Amino acid sequence: MTQPPVPGTAAAGAGAQLDWFTQARFGLFVHFGLYSVAARHEWVMTREQIPVADYERYAQVFDPDRFDAPALVRAAQEAGMGYVVLTTKHHDGFALWDTRESDYSTQTTVGRDLVAELVEAARAAGLRVGLYHSLIDWHHPDFTIDYHHPQRDAADARELNAGKDMARYRAYLHAQVRELLTGYGQIDYLFFDFTYAEDVDGWRGKYPQDWDADGLLALVRELQPGIVVNDRLGIPADLVTPEQYQPDAPMTAADGTPQVWEGCQTLNGSWGYDRDNTAFKTPDLLVRMLVDTVSKDGNLLLNVGPDGRGALSPRDAATLTAIGGWMDLHHRAVIGAGASDVPAPPATVVTQRPGRLYVHLLAWPFGHLHLHLSGLADDVLHAQLLHDASEIRTSRTDPSQAAWNTTPGGQPPGTLTLHLPTTRPDVLVPVVEIFLKSEDGGATTPRT
Ligand code: GLC
Repeated sequence: MTQPPVPGTAAAGAGAQLDWFTQARFGLFVHFGLYSVAARHEWVMTREQIPVADYERYAQVFDPDRFDAPALVRAAQEAGMGYVVLTTKHHDGFALWDTRESDYSTQTTVGRDLVAELVEAARAAGLRVGLYHSLIDWHHPDFTIDYHHPQRDAADARELNAGKDMARYRAYLHAQVRELLTGYGQIDYLFFDFTYAEDVDGWRGKYPQDWDADGLLALVRELQPGIVVNDRLGIPADLVTPEQYQPDAPMTAADGTPQVWEGCQTLNGSWGYDRDNTAFKTPDLLVRMLVDTVSKDGNLLLNVGPDGRGALSPRDAATLTAIGGWMDLHHRAVIGAGASDVPAPPATVVTQRPGRLYVHLLAWPFGHLHLHLSGLADDVLHAQLLHDASEIRTSRTDPSQAAWNTTPGGQPPGTLTLHLPTTRPDVLVPVVEIFLKSEDGGATTPRT
């Protein structure tokens, strides 16, 4: 079993409190901004190379009249999530809070501080508060043009860069981060996005020094000593953030050191509202992704992109509700759970918490499932389907595993055979919960 770095150690960053984070396992990402009005991906400004003056049209019409922070937080909570992460500013530079650094904000255009609204709602509901903040800013006049920038193909792009001063942008970036970390009480998590430290086609990328990443991280830790910070400043911080793929094992650093990690995932491939994109993941796929993530000691940050008025689409709301129905019955196999040393039988993943193992059945086999528990087999007290606490009979009383006409054999000593009903339970992912006699589960290492 891999263990995440101990909070407070060098790997975790000074003072970082990661316990709540690794316990929660499941959070809601909310991408909302001017791009939600365009409704064709949050990168629309650069994909379509829209000049700043044209893009600003969205600020004139943006009216988030259906952005309802308590409703969003409720949707997250009902889905079994423990934290919410809102975009404060995306790459288009538009701020969702009352910033003194710019008048390109919801405060100026509609007189609302959406960050304050979300933070208050999350805190009132007992959820942890996360802020996403873009390091990239395609609206700021001093942010230099590069291969991701909307003006990259402008005839005078290189000359324009000569007049830009990243030092001024850096000061702006630090000042906005300071506002966010001083104006809203305790912020539990900061998700910076992102550094691209390579040069392409003669363009310089953006490197940690472009943000003064060390200085910015120090500022963040000074202002919010307990905060969790991701790795996208381009320097190590508290966790790593694989995006839109499922790692095939617990994540480690190059030297093999275990890493706290959080995979972020979309519902349809786009983070911002994308009206015509229907490549939706089904609720059962999303639950399978969630339990797969937890079985590898990771968190899942699942995104929704509210529409141009700030509302969750009926489809996204229904997806969260369906996941919530499953979480309601199975939360203890996810929240506070993590990877297990028990090898997962085919088409399953295994999670564990002190004294319990959870076998998540991604496909429904006929009759029997063989778990190779080795020394732990003698430690099994009871097995049941988690959703209804109906007993699953096992081979515990017959350690010989001898074959008979209608019983399987050939299993090595230390195998626990589960006798499953023929009919698959009608839940998104059926889970067998195995009670162990000892808290530490014998051969397995307990998770706290
Ligand atoms: C990427 C994208 C961005 C999105 C983010 C979420 O870095 O640039 O649009 O917000 O991932 O993790």
